[in-house]
Amino acid sequence: MVQKPMIVLNFKTYAESMGANAVRMAKYCGEVSEESGVEIIAVPQIPDIARVADSVKIPVYAQHIDGVGAGGYTGHITADCVRSAGAQGCLINHSERRMLLADVDSALQFAKKAGLTAIVCTNNIAVTSAAAALAPEYVAIEPPALIGSGIPVSKADPGIVTGSVEAVKKVNPYVKVLCGAGISTGEDVAAALDLGAYGVLLASGVIKAKDQKAALIDLISKV
Ligand code: G3P
Repeated sequence: MVQKPMIVLNFKTYAESMGANAVRMAKYCGEVSEESGVEIIAVPQIPDIARVADSVKIPVYAQHIDGVGAGGYTGHITADCVRSAGAQGCLINHSERRMLLADVDSALQFAKKAGLTAIVCTNNIAVTSAAAALAPEYVAIEPPALIGSGIPVSKADPGIVTGSVEAVKKVNPYVKVLCGAGISTGEDVAAALDLGAYGVLLASGVIKAKDQKAALIDLISKV
């Protein structure tokens, strides 16, 4: 038995979690969260935020925001807009949506102003330190090579998780550390927590599972 983790489920652009499927997936998250008491956050595609947020009580986050506010911008995603669509937080700098450090900082400032909780994603320990210096609520360390691999970071590269936890403690101990990439089972989650992570960020292990709800239940089975 380990502490209750925070589980962040990134729907990415998978067809299995888009449109009506996004609502169904988020409802599974809501049911499993309510039954287990584990915090599960749904991260659908941005155009699905409103329909998902209207259908579930669990927090809904955006997959990305840009470091711009209201004004003469086109095709950008603003913190205020995702907030008004129903998002309570956002990912920033996901490996599949990388940003320059200055833009990460700017996006984070807009997230804070809009009242969004921010998870800044990082790819190694040095970038984790830099992200922690910007003082988001969370950083999420995800080695790119393991993303979507089914090989869990908590087993394949435990040092990057413990190293990130240590680095963040030195830079800003208030920042919580999540880890992700290849996480798909309860054992993977328990291993992540043992390494000092506060929770996990994952996608394919649940979204691509034949039985998504069963995969979610398994995910929280060791906590
Ligand atoms: O955002 C989560 C992610 O990048 C990890 O993906 O499919 O390895 O769980 P996955």
